Amino acid sequence: MKVIDFKENIDYSSLKMLSKCIKNGGVIVFPTETVYGIGANALDEKAVDRIYKIKGRNKAKPLIVLVNDIDMLNSIVENVNDIHKKLIENFWPGALTIIFEKKDILPDNVTGGLSTVGVRIPGNEIVMQLICNAGVPITAPSANISGRLSIVDAKVVYGELRDKVDYIVDGGVTGIGIESTIVKVENGIVKILRKGKIQKEDIEKIGLQVQIDEKCTNENHYMIDKELVMITEGKTKFNEKINSFLSLSENENKKIGVISSDEYYERLDLKVDKYINIGEDYDNILKNIFSILNDANNTDIDIFFTQSFENNENGNVIMDKIREVKNIKII
Ligand code: TXA
Ligand code: MG
Repeated sequence: MKVIDFKENIDYSSLKMLSKCIKNGGVIVFPTETVYGIGANALDEKAVDRIYKIKGRNKAKPLIVLVNDIDMLNSIVENVNDIHKKLIENFWPGALTIIFEKKDILPDNVTGGLSTVGVRIPGNEIVMQLICNAGVPITAPSANISGRLSIVDAKVVYGELRDKVDYIVDGGVTGIGIESTIVKVENGIVKILRKGKIQKEDIEKIGLQVQIDEKCTNENHYMIDKELVMITEGKTKFNEKINSFLSLSENENKKIGVISSDEYYERLDLKVDKYINIGEDYDNILKNIFSILNDANNTDIDIFFTQSFENNENGNVIMDKIREVKNIKII
């Protein structure tokens, strides 16, 4: 495994080598506009199989595929309709993954046996160059072991996947910091299957009808090793609720961590072993939410308390992401 540093600029001889690797069945980690992805040639069944093995992923869970233009899209999907086109015009390149009917050229293992495939043109120069040079669509599930947090920093990917992949391309910290929004179009309606930075209102603004699909669970899938407790009802109850939670006998002698801004933290009258100050800027918190959770995970703390977030655009996305942690308690 080798790390390729594209943080400052893309080096074209390395890019050629990476593209060759992809074409020959290799597996490469790269940044996208959302989080780091793990890529193989989506047309190569064996290479795709490697991705499932590396991630320890259930074979029935389909992979997302990235393309660099509409011709490549048309080579792998059919029945692109006017609503799809409107979504594409407004949101690509960018963090909206759209579900299409797949063509036979895509091996069945890419889509976990489904007849549909999720595709997007990514808004990240490095991965776009990689696809252009390789000339093939590239898979991009998140670059983490199945069930773990998504990753926004190549250093963290290195810790998790270094023994398993051929190359890790370091493009710095990813821009958006959470995974893409996933939609499918059904009976003229855009249905959101996974929430992300692009929200219902953003899609409504371009004149389309949008629903959150009833199957949109944003599954509780991130396993973290710590207890995580989210305190609702704002600042005024923060201290009281944490203290009453800690008064339960099972919580005696636990090491306590807090994830919040100073405004919350200053209200506490208990001994805190680790404070992760996330500041007040919701844009910044959203961008860093996986790093924050990852930092919490890498401590010797037993239980982390986190503040909740206001009911606004970014606040809701942050809440959605934290709720996806498998063992979260909300009190
Ligand atoms: O932002 C992202 O989308 C990142 C970057 C790296 O591309 N990738 C990502 O992939 O989040 P992954 O594998 O962690 O999540 C993909 C999600 C899964 O929940 C999967 O079930 C869903 O996409 N998915 C993929 N193809 C689908 C399909 N044909 N129908 C319904 N859901 C699909
Ligand atoms: Mg994932």
